[in-house]
Amino acid sequence: MFEALPEKGVPGQQILDELRELRRADLPTHGGRLFAYVYDPALEGLDELAQAAFAISAHVNGLDPTAFPSLLAMENALVGAAAGLLGGGDETVGSVTSGGTESLILAVKAARDSRPELTAPRLVIPSTAHAAFAKAAHYLRVELDVVPVGADLRAGPEAMAAAITPDTVLVAASAPSYAHGVVDPIPQLAAIAAERGVRFHVDACFGGWVLPYLKRLGADLPPFDLSVPGVTSISVDLHKYAYAPKGVSILLHRTEQLRLPQYFAFAGWPGYTMINPIISSTRSGGPIAGALATMRHIGDAGYLELARRTREAVEVLSAAVTETDGVSLFAPPETSVVCLTAENPFVLADELAARGWHTQPQMSFGDLPATIHLTVTAAVAPTAGEFAADLAAAVAATRERGPAPQLDVSGLTPEMITPELVAGLAESLGLGGGDFTQMAAVNSLLDTVPPAVREALLTSFLSLLQRPAKTTE
Ligand SMILES: Cc1ncc(COP(=O)(O)O)c(C=O)c1O
Repeated sequence: MFEALPEKGVPGQQILDELRELRRADLPTHGGRLFAYVYDPALEGLDELAQAAFAISAHVNGLDPTAFPSLLAMENALVGAAAGLLGGGDETVGSVTSGGTESLILAVKAARDSRPELTAPRLVIPSTAHAAFAKAAHYLRVELDVVPVGADLRAGPEAMAAAITPDTVLVAASAPSYAHGVVDPIPQLAAIAAERGVRFHVDACFGGWVLPYLKRLGADLPPFDLSVPGVTSISVDLHKYAYAPKGVSILLHRTEQLRLPQYFAFAGWPGYTMINPIISSTRSGGPIAGALATMRHIGDAGYLELARRTREAVEVLSAAVTETDGVSLFAPPETSVVCLTAENPFVLADELAARGWHTQPQMSFGDLPATIHLTVTAAVAPTAGEFAADLAAAVAATRERGPAPQLDVSGLTPEMITPELVAGLAESLGLGGGDFTQMAAVNSLLDTVPPAVREALLTSFLSLLQRPAKTTE
């Protein structure tokens, strides 16, 4: 392990070699075989372009756009592009944030602070809404009303309507949901919220940059953006299907008045007056320049072609699932997600990983079984045809192995979870040495415990991993 602060500086080439070596332990970000975390258009030269643009603006500080107008110009260009793609009008405004979670926290903050008279503001979401809404509610002390989705995995307008109270500051839904990739009935939900005088946010963080192109390609998807009456804000992550380097999302509001309570202003100290539209204050221009370069280089026609390749890959992967005994599609593959069920999904995920396909296991939730999630990007199109044979082999191997060995953790409560207990569990599950390739036993254990216990176990495990490296003498 290298030292971050060596006594004497280390030559640049050595450091880059070390970083490359370190990266070898990571999942492959390119090559069309990783179905979560990364979004790869597989366009030659794009990485280099985005990195060069990132470097030009890395030291620019978004704290003060009058000092760095380059950043303001880039942000306004990105917001303008997003508004154009997502049904914005003359009055649409927006902000560039660091990611989907920040965009959602700010949508909730703007809604909460637009109703300062409320002592217990509430947020209504369907149960498939992204976890970032729960984080927003937690950070902002807003009560969360979670409405179970219907059998079609979509928010039910009647059930959502019934959850709205006079204290509701925001109703939100997904276009599409992350776990299943299905689009909520946005027009009906937005109409209900508008009728009750409540803000309505569309979380298009995940699919906001691919849905418009899928629609252009003929996909039968409902309207979901600012063109829908009653939608007051919408978020779209550029580091997802706009294929920008990590760290850029956009939050659009229908009008400037709706955006105003999102801002934080403070003049009550001896330093500079701080006016922040988003959570961070000092922030790098790097991700913003990287996103702008990516978007300008791909262009509208490029995104259409990338969406076509993504769709092609979704169809090939879905057909492989449908045609393989022992697995089935759990959700209709109507956007860019393939979500499947299997008898022992956690073992299957390991077997797929052993064959070079890195999927994302999802735990059971309420009535929903455990599933395997695949976020599909354009890079998958050339490799998708190889999936069917490996899926069949992985299913056969899963059958042979049977369920993952189970540790008995019934009776465990969050209060019982200590760092020592988690360290012992991690050791006995084979995680002690930092090898995370065999996860079936871990996932099976996590799947059997209640959500609160899972949260406590994983919190403690992450805390165990996050220990300062010891400096050598
Ligand atoms: C629908 C949706 N909303 C919000 C987020 C949060 O985005 P981020 O991880 O960029 O904070 C995600 C991430 O996958 C998402 O899929």
